[in-house]
Amino acid sequence: MSGALQKVSLGPAVEVVPGGQSMAHHQVAGWHLVIFDLGDGSFSAMHDLCTHADARFSQGWLEEDCVACPWHGAQFDIRTGKALSLPATEDVRMFDTQVVDGHLQVMLPPAPPAT
Ligand code: FES
Repeated sequence: MSGALQKVSLGPAVEVVPGGQSMAHHQVAGWHLVIFDLGDGSFSAMHDLCTHADARFSQGWLEEDCVACPWHGAQFDIRTGKALSLPATEDVRMFDTQVVDGHLQVMLPPAPPAT
């Protein structure tokens, strides 16, 4: 995959992850993302596709700073994407985020993955 990153707005940051939740699925520019509210006014954006067998993390659950895959329970760091437990061994892709004028922006490659 190549090409410049595109800056994509997900809308007002206060609405990206609904109140009372810590993560939410978004589909934008062909990408499935799971957005985590880190609780300090910042967010992280993870490819919403497990590196083990293609489950959606947004259907899993959070355990402190880790998200657990709903299919086989592998855990990933929600800030770095690092695979922390088996059966996953490959880290998941993360995307840079920033809040500008109250809107959450994510930097995405122009070509989405074929999933
Ligand atoms: S699909 Fe995620 S751990 Fe198997």
